[in-house]
Amino acid sequence: MKRGVWAQSLKGENSVLSASLLNTFICDDAEAGLRRLSTGSVNTIVTSPPYYRQRDYGRLGQIGVEESPQAYLDKLVRVFRECKRTLFNNGTLWLNVGDKYDGGQLLGIPWKLAFALQDDGWLLRSDVIWHKPNAMPSSVKTRPTTDHEYVFLFAKGSRYYYDADAIREPHVTLSEQSMMKGGRNHFYKRGGTPEKGKNGGNPNLHNARWDQAFHPKGRNKRTVWRVPLSKCPEAHFAVFPEGLVELCVVAGSREGGVVLDPFSGSGTTALVARRLGRNYIGIDNNPAYCKMAEERIGQQLALVPEDLGYTPEDRH
Ligand SMILES: C[S@@+](CC[C@H](N)C(=O)[O-])C[C@H]1O[C@@H](n2cnc3c(N)ncnc32)[C@H](O)[C@@H]1O
Repeated sequence: MKRGVWAQSLKGENSVLSASLLNTFICDDAEAGLRRLSTGSVNTIVTSPPYYRQRDYGRLGQIGVEESPQAYLDKLVRVFRECKRTLFNNGTLWLNVGDKYDGGQLLGIPWKLAFALQDDGWLLRSDVIWHKPNAMPSSVKTRPTTDHEYVFLFAKGSRYYYDADAIREPHVTLSEQSMMKGGRNHFYKRGGTPEKGKNGGNPNLHNARWDQAFHPKGRNKRTVWRVPLSKCPEAHFAVFPEGLVELCVVAGSREGGVVLDPFSGSGTTALVARRLGRNYIGIDNNPAYCKMAEERIGQQLALVPEDLGYTPEDRH
């Protein structure tokens, strides 16, 4: 059994979360909403907080309009401290955040936030470059046009749930011309490699190479994810593409698990979580967005047949 799965099942997941909050949107300030959730009740968090000084979401207490980057970072550190409390000990946080130019220079907000969260006790496990092939063109001529953002993978502790198999990607070396000695004898056969050549007899190298080049589900996911931006006609702000959320949800939780987004906006994380058989909790301080998110979920439930795992109660 995979290490992560074992650790998760030990906890008796979902048992401590108030059932009335499961599969709902809490229309409240993120910190206040998070305080309503039990300690150790969430499997993974997939979220994109408001970026620094990019947009006015029109609500008192909104994050992103602070006077200084430091004030913005301080607020987010507090929100994510509360997020950490709600996670199971083996839980993860997938955090997407964008950068900002000010006075002609890039502020480096994503990494400042990553380091601030590290300092607050989070384990930073990976930075992922979200490459947006259809990013907005820009008129800048004095620097490259930005077409990426960061997604950080944080863990609450060193033993965390991560399903690498769920997000493997196609091999690029699965061919008889592979760099590895042995050609077609390697395919789908761990240990089936006639190890001739300079790496012969080195079992560590052998396993790593096998996984890299011949694992039947593909190679381990890389850190550049190419996911096009998608449109949500109802929302006037940037929404998550479902493809990006999907990767985080399936790597960070099992079916039946709990996925949280403390800045849920139009509800994309919830939508994806539900479609993939997970439970969701969304928090947003804008009632109009909570309503929009509920409607999106309602539309999905109306479309998805019962046999995809929805119960009649889901329709209420
Ligand atoms: C970048 S948007 C999230 C979009 C979302 N990922 C989606 O796919 O629709 C950030 C959200 O944070 C919400 N927000 C801003 N300040 C907040 C606060 N203090 N507490 C809770 N939500 C807040 C905004 O209303 C907005 O919906």
